[in-house]
Amino acid sequence: MASADTTVSGKFCEGFAWGVATSAYQIEGKWDADGKGKSIWDDFTHTPNHVEDSSNGDVACDSYSKVEEDVKMLKELKVSHYRFSLSWPRIMPTGKADNINKAGVDYYNRLIDALLKNGIQPMVTLYHWDLPSAIEESGGWLSEEIPELFADYADYCFGEFGDRVKLWITINEPQIVAYLGYCVGLHAPGTQDPLTKPYLVSRHLILSHAKSYRVYDSKYRAAQKGKVSLSINSDWAHPAGDGKDPKDAHAAELYMQFTNGWFSDPIFLSGDYPPLMKEAIAKKSKELGSETSRLPVFSEEEKKMIKGSYDFYGLNYYTTRLICDPASNEKATRMHPDLDAGSATDPTWERAGSPWLYIVPWGLRRLLKYVSDRYGKPTIMITENGCSTKHPVGAKEEETLQIEDAQRQNYVKSHIQEVLKAYRDDKVDVQGYFLWSLMDNFEWSAGYTERFGLYHVDFQTGTRTPRKSAECYREIVQKNGF
Ligand code: NOJ
Repeated sequence: MASADTTVSGKFCEGFAWGVATSAYQIEGKWDADGKGKSIWDDFTHTPNHVEDSSNGDVACDSYSKVEEDVKMLKELKVSHYRFSLSWPRIMPTGKADNINKAGVDYYNRLIDALLKNGIQPMVTLYHWDLPSAIEESGGWLSEEIPELFADYADYCFGEFGDRVKLWITINEPQIVAYLGYCVGLHAPGTQDPLTKPYLVSRHLILSHAKSYRVYDSKYRAAQKGKVSLSINSDWAHPAGDGKDPKDAHAAELYMQFTNGWFSDPIFLSGDYPPLMKEAIAKKSKELGSETSRLPVFSEEEKKMIKGSYDFYGLNYYTTRLICDPASNEKATRMHPDLDAGSATDPTWERAGSPWLYIVPWGLRRLLKYVSDRYGKPTIMITENGCSTKHPVGAKEEETLQIEDAQRQNYVKSHIQEVLKAYRDDKVDVQGYFLWSLMDNFEWSAGYTERFGLYHVDFQTGTRTPRKSAECYREIVQKNGF
């Protein structure tokens, strides 16, 4: 069995999906062109003090006007797949299916056709955080009506694009939507209400996903023969001291259930939230004087709809945390008042350009094994994994062009090495890997100060330049491994 520091050679399965990923708000620009409706990210970034460099996605990489350029870069990388997202308000300016913006639909049709013409398979995300503002006005993710509206939107997209799109992601990183959007308020809509709203939002996210999956099942699957899932973000929660103290091991498992399991258990396991999470929230609710838990319950009918609503497991991995019993380390960060686990990092871990990103390749292998074991050995597609470099506020583009991006090259190689070990030695059924990201883009509340691209983007001139990591990734893709 290969350890974390051994380099292995070997190939992935035949037909392994090699891709890169992006999302609409982060690359498209043209935020109000051709009949597009506004999204919560347009509103959020147009309000002062939400983004580190006061920037926004108004122009971004201008991908809305650059279909050929985007496809040319994908061809250069020799990837077999491209994961991108549809902007819901570009297709439905009011968020509702009775009002379709043809120009928006045309753009996605042109992109999909150009990809296929060049032998690249699209993987399409329906929701990568840019909720139509019109839907937000009537409650957004807090409203009971959203699962129905989301399923209508999904229905339209399956019908319009599904003759050519065979891989669908309904929702990207639902835990981030609930946590950063409604607990800490770092993401749109910027709400800070840790004890209740994230749980209500998560209920509606899960129901929206499941309902859309069932729409695909009943109306499209037979003819289109595609696959539908969602992208679950997950750190690997490694027990401090390798779990020698059972309290740390317990805290790490609790952390996994609270973050990864929050969305994975209902969909991939039981139709319901993870047991440790349910227990913890009920207990804390009681301590605060409430006999009922703040975590809403699913009805039996809802559970049936949710359980098994997947065709593969979509996983986004970036980093690892050391998790301990909170009483044992006062310095460890508490992520949420309901979660009795402390989170820390190892000072020897290398850091990337985002403050939260510690480079821990072996964490990916552990996480793959954990997901595979807990969820009954599903086919896993890694729908994101990537490394950032810092672009300080006010720096000139040429100062951080960093064509020689040694750290990103190492990140890419070492993480794919660990995926190979998981596949070959641990028998995890991994069938795809999508690198984040094709090119530098708008990194949410960090604006353009963190760059994840295989291609550098000069946001003054719009020029795209391949970094060395693009070549390094292409080599791995062409060899289908090492
Ligand atoms: C995950 C998100 O899906 C993506 O939008 C973001 O840019 C990357 N992580 C990097 O933070």
